Amino acid sequence: VTSPLETLAEVRVLPVVSLAEPTSAAALADVLAESGLPVIEITLRTERALDAVRAVARAGTARVGVGTVMHANQVRAAADAGAEFVVTPGFDPAVVRACLEHRIPVIAGIATATEILQALSAGVEVLKLFPATVLGGPALIEALSAPFPQIRFVPTGGITAQTAPDYLAQPSVLAIGGSWMVPRRAILANDFTAISALSRAAAQLPRARHDRTGMAHSSGSRA
Ligand code: 3PG
Repeated sequence: VTSPLETLAEVRVLPVVSLAEPTSAAALADVLAESGLPVIEITLRTERALDAVRAVARAGTARVGVGTVMHANQVRAAADAGAEFVVTPGFDPAVVRACLEHRIPVIAGIATATEILQALSAGVEVLKLFPATVLGGPALIEALSAPFPQIRFVPTGGITAQTAPDYLAQPSVLAIGGSWMVPRRAILANDFTAISALSRAAAQLPRARHDRTGMAHSSGSRA
């Protein structure tokens, strides 16, 4: 079985989903996977988030990871629920250690060069730059890639369909994360038509970039 992060590196777009109720989780994961986004993150920001993870893992159409992990003891719970990877908003060595112990891939959060150094000593190289947009966006990633060429970034936070191409143009960006294709309102209304359209467009973004070789790097050329 391919690692979920390898699959993510091919897809390059990670939907970040927050669900109050697990009821429609499996159906939502189906829609995302069918739209070309087969790797999804469910945040631990709601009480029933792990039930949603369990439902998606059982359905088996998408690879599901758990996000907003802040304590080492959540790693075990996530793995037991069927999560295939862990995402953290910031850097905590104990959480990373727990992930390595459970052999569950981790996308550890960082916001500074100092935290990247801590991540490297902990033995992880796939890092979530969060909150990417307010920290400095693609320009920050380019700057950090100079001293840290081995780091693969998963920028998340404030990314939109409009700003996504400039992140994807950075060679050190493994994937971008975000919730723009799973808007809260659409989830609450079970509006799978809207989610499907947004997700299909999001899944096309990395491909669109290849088709535009030569003009892909200036944001001014895209409205
Ligand atoms: C996260 O947890 O990574 C963010 O809340 C998702 O970012 P976005 O909602 O700004 O896209």
